Amino acid sequence: MLERAVRIALRGHGEAEPNPSVGCVIADAEGRVVGEGRTRPPGGPHGEIVALRQAGTAARGGVAWTTLEPCNHHGRTPPCVDALVEAGIARLVVGSIETNEVASGGIARLRAAGVEVEIRSDVDAVRRLHAGFHRRVSTGRPWVVVKWAETFDGALATPPEVSPWISGPRSLGLVHRERGRVDAILTGIGTVLADDPRLDARGVRRRRTAKRVVVDPDLRIPTDAAMLKTPGGEVIVACRPDVAASNPDRVGGLEAAGARVLAIEGDDDESLRGRFGGDRLDHLLRRLAKEEGIGTVLTECGPGLLQSLFGADLVDAALVFTAPETGPTGLKPFPRPRPRDLLATAGFETIWSGHRGPDAARWSQRID
Ligand SMILES: NC(=O)c1ccc[n+]([C@@H]2O[C@H](COP(=O)([O-])OP(=O)(O)OC[C@H]3O[C@@H](n4cnc5c(N)ncnc54)[C@H](OP(=O)(O)O)[C@@H]3O)[C@@H](O)[C@H]2O)c1
Repeated sequence: MLERAVRIALRGHGEAEPNPSVGCVIADAEGRVVGEGRTRPPGGPHGEIVALRQAGTAARGGVAWTTLEPCNHHGRTPPCVDALVEAGIARLVVGSIETNEVASGGIARLRAAGVEVEIRSDVDAVRRLHAGFHRRVSTGRPWVVVKWAETFDGALATPPEVSPWISGPRSLGLVHRERGRVDAILTGIGTVLADDPRLDARGVRRRRTAKRVVVDPDLRIPTDAAMLKTPGGEVIVACRPDVAASNPDRVGGLEAAGARVLAIEGDDDESLRGRFGGDRLDHLLRRLAKEEGIGTVLTECGPGLLQSLFGADLVDAALVFTAPETGPTGLKPFPRPRPRDLLATAGFETIWSGHRGPDAARWSQRID
């Protein structure tokens, strides 16, 4: 039943955040399923409430399975624990414990009200479902999914005269779907200068409009970059504070073109020659979480920034498309190690693998 609750919750991927997408199944006293639900977009009811409304009076004396401990506080909605008690739920099976202090205490409150509570923290599907939420709460950073397309031999970058598309249209469709479900898409200036991407979600039903964030230490992004001319989420250009301070005209020009410039503090290693070190990348992500309300990030950068994100342990999940062909001749030498090698050493767990047209696709995430 918890796995069923997870499947229901997954349908809300991209809708519930920054809240966790909680799945709930309710059975009546005879064991018949009478209600199911998942958390609605912020301000809407949590999964438990949706399921209770569906169950109505049939919930009395019944069992509820929830993927996360029901909330015990008045946020945008009243506490779910009160609704469960009022509905007369006799037993509750919980898949994971609430780590956000503000909302915790639900289990104790339910037990005090006479509800039998069983905690089942051994269900893998639940662990994976809420990994992003728990990690956001514990680190203060968004959940970072890195996406890349690679040739069969692991190359990401093609020479300028060759099409930059490594993966096929079916893979791109999946990427656009993810773009429509995250709060921000992050890229590096190398990708902007090479590919001039728009980084918007096209041809899919968008659940949210992602802000587009460019790591551009020296403010090299052209004011006529395609992403600045494409309607969509705000464009944020992250640079070094000394660069912003000494180039007010450049900042003004970018702002006039619709971008917002964020000067990011941080201690960098001299050897990085002005690029963002792990500390500065960490600051950027924290500011995106705290000041911009960004809970989920999809990165679509080249091998340079990817390497730095892995190096600073800032990657939580990876969506990788592998084309059946090897790269064209004359391909830039791989930066060593290749992103696929970095992923292998990160020791992520494979969540899903399959095919999108001719490409192999794999989704993996960290195990906590
Ligand atoms: N296959 C794919 O999925 C995929 C996706 C995106 C891009 N690409 C390809 O990747 C190539 C571009 O690669 P790239 O590595 O130049 O792009 P990138 O990773 O998007 O951007 C690299 C740039 O970001 C800036 N940067 C700041 N801090 C950095 C840090 N700590 N580490 C690395 N870079 C940092 C640097 O700018 P400064 O030089 O100004 O300091 C650097 O040149 C293009 O050929 C593009 O087509 C492939």
